[in-house]
Amino acid sequence: MCGIVGAVARRNVVPILLNGLLRLEYRGYDSAGLVVVRDGKLTRVRSIGRVAELEQKSANTHGELGIAHTRWATHGMPSERNAHPHLSCDLIAVVHNGIIENYEALRADLNARGYEFTSDTDTEVIAHLIHSHYAQNSLLVATQMALAQLVGAYAIGVVAADNPHQLIAARKGSPLLLGVGESEHFVASDMSALLQVTKNVVYLEEGDVVEVNLADYRIFDVQGKAVKRAVHVSELNNDSVELGEYQHYMQKEIHEQPQALADTLESVCNSRSMVPGIFGAEANTVFPQVESILILACGTSHHAGMVARYWLEELAGIQCTVEIASEYRYRTSVANPKTLVVTISQSGETADTLAALNHAKQTGHEFTLAICNVPESAIVRQSKLRLMTRAGPEIGVASTKAFTTQLAALFLLTLVLAKLRGRLSSEREQQFLHELRHLPSAVKKVLALEPQIAELSKYFADKHHALFLGRGLHYPIALEGALKLKEISYIHAEAYPAGELKHGPLALVDKDMPVVSVAPNDALLEKLKSNLQEVRARGGELYVFADANTHIKEAEGIHILQMPEHAGYLSPILHTIPLQLLAYYVALQKGTDVDKPRNLAKSVTVE
Ligand code: F6R
Repeated sequence: MCGIVGAVARRNVVPILLNGLLRLEYRGYDSAGLVVVRDGKLTRVRSIGRVAELEQKSANTHGELGIAHTRWATHGMPSERNAHPHLSCDLIAVVHNGIIENYEALRADLNARGYEFTSDTDTEVIAHLIHSHYAQNSLLVATQMALAQLVGAYAIGVVAADNPHQLIAARKGSPLLLGVGESEHFVASDMSALLQVTKNVVYLEEGDVVEVNLADYRIFDVQGKAVKRAVHVSELNNDSVELGEYQHYMQKEIHEQPQALADTLESVCNSRSMVPGIFGAEANTVFPQVESILILACGTSHHAGMVARYWLEELAGIQCTVEIASEYRYRTSVANPKTLVVTISQSGETADTLAALNHAKQTGHEFTLAICNVPESAIVRQSKLRLMTRAGPEIGVASTKAFTTQLAALFLLTLVLAKLRGRLSSEREQQFLHELRHLPSAVKKVLALEPQIAELSKYFADKHHALFLGRGLHYPIALEGALKLKEISYIHAEAYPAGELKHGPLALVDKDMPVVSVAPNDALLEKLKSNLQEVRARGGELYVFADANTHIKEAEGIHILQMPEHAGYLSPILHTIPLQLLAYYVALQKGTDVDKPRNLAKSVTVE
């Protein structure tokens, strides 16, 4: 969701800005722009559509200081006039991610003071505010004064036409990091944009403002006090953000799941037993006190939480509630200080999940655990305990490997709590460890079904709706399958617990409504088979994703995808894979933009 790149160097920074924007494309955007400072002037180039168009338009633009942006529209339509950077009086240029909540009042005030607005965005007020303070102050101080007037969330980059070697950047509620080079410095929304120039990175903290110069940089905290922040060496490498042999990032990321799972489970699978310490040193004192679990997350991460509820209640015998973060944050709830609040997030920056975490803390929850894919993200930093999924960067907007690694992490949480609560015998622990070690190769076997799934996808391409059914542990997997299909193929898809079918959705079933059923060989299989009969009896076409010994036979109107194994409690992980592939191949047939589906953004850093 919106991306920022900025650079100050002794070389033309335009290729760096453009390359950085290309790396941020995955976040989702509808327009792009850049500005460079040269000979005391600002040169701005903007375009709607892809960064490639901006690249063409900026072929003759040069400068050693610049900021650039990909915009995902919030205030104002996607259009060139609303694209960033926004200028004030041809002197100040600003790029911004986030939302300024009090922009209307600020805009009215600035209007009254003679400032003219040329866009519908909230960002333009920032440019004018900085300009209004700049006559009497340095760019740093003018920016700090402007920020003090803002209510809302932001990551910003600022340059001034008469300040050829300096850029100011700041963050509050939206991610931003500083890249440290040799006599050149950079800022960006995430590391993938900076790998082209440096691996040395400073993760800016909430409220930080940084003055970035050629030779050095100075960081000021939320109180305006100069602070030192550690320089980290990023572990990301360019290969992990390259497409390689695959057609799309989503396809690559689906295929990376065996490795992502092996990496996430590495520390546990290499040991002989499960210990709380994998969640951080404090887990040893926190976990024994925990009486219940509250899981908070959005979208796909929320589905992972829903699966975990079945595991936690059944295996660990611990009461578990799962809530959508955007609902929980505005609900008056009763806190139990002995509840462990678990947030699940790929990005660690999702605004609603972060706000829900803070809301939980304010209502009296002290025990917090983040399950996250980005180590330095806000959600991880603000939680007491953490378990990192090691999925590597996920570029495709539709979450795939992040989801299955979240499930693996949540299964570990279940086992550690089950053991602490005396519900896991050492034989059972060894059995589960064995199953976890086997998981990557079991996933590989499911991936080998790709050609069959590609064939099945042909039945879906001309449909407008689809129904997904699952029961128990696999109901959230049906939800996830439906979400994947709607996100990237734009086919309307709904998921139901199969037992709910005759309470309403059966009315929709006819030959034009494909019904996908997640059918593992578990205790609910016989009940599910009856539900499938109900569909067949109404002329519905069934697509059954079965596993070993499910014994459902191909027949007219019943298409079976036979998976090779049944993975017991880990079955939701295996059953996710064919649903991801189905969505992918249906989207290919429909020719949609698989990695950047319309209207969606990767990191939802605004409410
Ligand atoms: C769907 C998807 C989203 C995210 C959601 C939460 O494919 O990717 O539903 O799961 O926006 O994002 P994170 O996990 O980064 O908090």
